[in-house]
Amino acid sequence: MSASPEAKFTEETVLWVKRHTPKLMTFAITRPEAYRFAAGQFSRLGFRDGEGFLWRAYSVVSAEYADTLEYFVVLIENGPMSARFADLQAGDTLLLDKTATGFLLPERFADGRDLVMLSTGSGIAPFLSVIQQPALWQRFERLALVHSVSYADELIFADDMARLAEHPLVGDYHSRFTFQPVLTRAHAAGALDKRLPELLRNGELAAALNMEFSPEHTRFMLCGNPAMVKDTFQALLELGFAMHRNKIPGQIIMENGF
Ligand SMILES: Cc1cc2nc3c(=O)[nH]c(=O)nc-3n(C[C@H](O)[C@H](O)[C@H](O)COP(=O)(O)OP(=O)(O)OC[C@H]3O[C@@H](n4cnc5c(N)ncnc54)[C@H](O)[C@@H]3O)c2cc1C
Ligand SMILES: NC(=O)c1ccc[n+]([C@@H]2O[C@H](COP(=O)([O-])OP(=O)(O)OC[C@H]3O[C@@H](n4cnc5c(N)ncnc54)[C@H](OP(=O)(O)O)[C@@H]3O)[C@@H](O)[C@H]2O)c1
Repeated sequence: MSASPEAKFTEETVLWVKRHTPKLMTFAITRPEAYRFAAGQFSRLGFRDGEGFLWRAYSVVSAEYADTLEYFVVLIENGPMSARFADLQAGDTLLLDKTATGFLLPERFADGRDLVMLSTGSGIAPFLSVIQQPALWQRFERLALVHSVSYADELIFADDMARLAEHPLVGDYHSRFTFQPVLTRAHAAGALDKRLPELLRNGELAAALNMEFSPEHTRFMLCGNPAMVKDTFQALLELGFAMHRNKIPGQIIMENGF
């Protein structure tokens, strides 16, 4: 006999909601004591919808050891879940599937010296969790988080990245961390201004991060727009990197962010 859908999720309370731009929001929900996830994984969040349910995947932004679960959501025009999130308020109930999933896990790399996380839009979310894990900092010498968005007001985590130096568990490692913003339809000081595949091919990204990318030392994680993931993977293949598989080690791990 299969379990009833009711047994597969818990009902959580929305603790706070922040609206950064008309289409970008972050929020946190209560975390059940039994809810386990690895940094880089995603939750399935849901609403009751008439007789049924509406479910979508959202990467966890919080650290594995956090008391609450935080998410970063891009609202999509005419999207069913986005319409529900547009009205979300503290105190509302959100459904949380009991199982977190995903293979965007840095610990899958058995070796490597530098970890470069490439993201577009909401694809930054899993990496915000990853960089709060002390074990990762002990494992890699340098960490770089690259966030590509179209316009400057979408870089909503830039201040948090600067404040990472004050983080109680990973702050001491901050000198080994680089946050690199990329704006694809605007210009700003400190931001690169081309799409990620081009920045890889022309060497601009490596120069900005002050890193030499090599299959021996560099490990890449990709998350975001599926077209970006595909095109960036292709650029990395051309540069001599390969997909990481558990039985055939490589240098690239990726996940489509939607
Ligand atoms: C593994 C995984 C993790 C995800 N994590 C996140 C997350 O952390 N934050 C988040 O906002 N969304 C995330 N998504 C997308 C999310 O599940 C929903 O699809 C999204 O919130 C839109 O839902 P919707 O019902 O409003 O529209 P949908 O009907 O689900 O989507 C409509 C269309 O909008 C576009 N779209 C969907 N999501 C995005 C997005 N995030 N950015 C740009 N375009 C998009 C796609 O072209 C899609 O076909 C994730 C998806 C997957 C598969
Ligand atoms: N951002 C916009 O101005 C805009 C406009 C119309 C509709 N929308 C819609 O709004 C929603 C959310 O958009 P979003 O801007 O958060 O997400 P997005 O469209 O995925 O864009 C995020 C970042 O990914 C880049 N990107 C897209 N395709 C790429 C590729 N193949 N290779 C490398 N980089 C790539 C974008 O560059 P580019 O800026 O060069 O695309 C941008 O820097 C989506 O439904 C989107 O279709 C967005």
